[in-house]
Amino acid sequence: MKKPSLLDRLQHARLPIVAAMAATLGCLVAGIAMAQSTSTPPTRQPAALRADQLFWQTFHGGDYEHIQASLEASTAAYLRDPNDAVSTAHVGWLHMWRVAESSRLDHRPASITDDIVLARKYFQKAAALAPDDARYRGFLASAILAEAQIDQDASLRQQGADIMQQAVADWPAFNLFTSGYVMSRLPASSDGFKLALEQQWQNLEVCGHMTLDRHGGNLDRFAQGVTQATANSRDARACLNSDKAPHNEEGFFLNMGDMLTKSGDWQTARKVYAAAKQSPNYAQWPYREVLEQRIRDAEANVSVFNAAPAPGGKSATPMMIGSDAACMACHQR
Ligand code: HEC
Repeated sequence: MKKPSLLDRLQHARLPIVAAMAATLGCLVAGIAMAQSTSTPPTRQPAALRADQLFWQTFHGGDYEHIQASLEASTAAYLRDPNDAVSTAHVGWLHMWRVAESSRLDHRPASITDDIVLARKYFQKAAALAPDDARYRGFLASAILAEAQIDQDASLRQQGADIMQQAVADWPAFNLFTSGYVMSRLPASSDGFKLALEQQWQNLEVCGHMTLDRHGGNLDRFAQGVTQATANSRDARACLNSDKAPHNEEGFFLNMGDMLTKSGDWQTARKVYAAAKQSPNYAQWPYREVLEQRIRDAEANVSVFNAAPAPGGKSATPMMIGSDAACMACHQR
């Protein structure tokens, strides 16, 4: 999930301005760098650790209004040490969060799309710094696919799809979800959407070490499969709730139920939504009410989720991916 580049399409007329800006930024960065040791730091810097703390406080608190302050701290940490993959990725995630939950804003500015470009830049760097972290590759692919959508750029879309495929191969339990989630916006009749929904089933199968009936007939046995076979593997972090993603299971089932509803199969959607209630933390989940309303409205939501979005307008009942909970369904404490 990391290599492609795109931009380089600056018009010649603008180059002197860009060069001047780059020079100024270069001086700033050099100044910051000179204030520090020139050797590779063996550990992360205090400023990076403080930025981490603010990041988690903001993110787990669902404190969307204060993204900018956290972004300032994490970006400053990145400028001090551009080889710190964690700070780099945090900058990417904050941009991603801001655009993903921009339905929270009264008015969504056109320039909110700049966050996608920046997220791509930082995940590209993070993925280059930590090629073994398949999460960075998955988010890089998501950012590229979103950018390709905005630019209506088919070759960029292909690049994003290739990186996503690699990300899924590297860590299926994490990135099958990522891949399918991004594509949950596509029309229900499209091949992309059908693949996306199938990837959610496959993700459950990887986590549960079992084959699942696509109508939810044996979903009740899923919970045992997960806890026994998964608990001590890397997949536990992708499949179960954790400190970092305290409501991962609930959020996963909310999205998958939404996708099934959109596909027209609201009966199976109801079973999948209900599976969220098996999470040990369900009672503390801030989005419980959303899920329970979804179960009640599943049949009616088939047409709601398939309605063409009004340009710039908001749906009263968006799918999870277009909602205030696009990230927070899994991450809010
Ligand atoms: C279906 C649940 C789910 C959704 C939705 C989701 N995530 Fe995650 N996220 C996870 C899981 C699971 C992990 C892996 C945790 C781990 O590696 O220990 C994770 C990891 C992360 C981390 C890693 C933190 C770290 O330093 O290890 C960040 C940050 C993050 N997600 C941000 C986001 C953002 C931003 C969004 C929205 C665009 C989002 N997530 C949407 C489940 C989710």
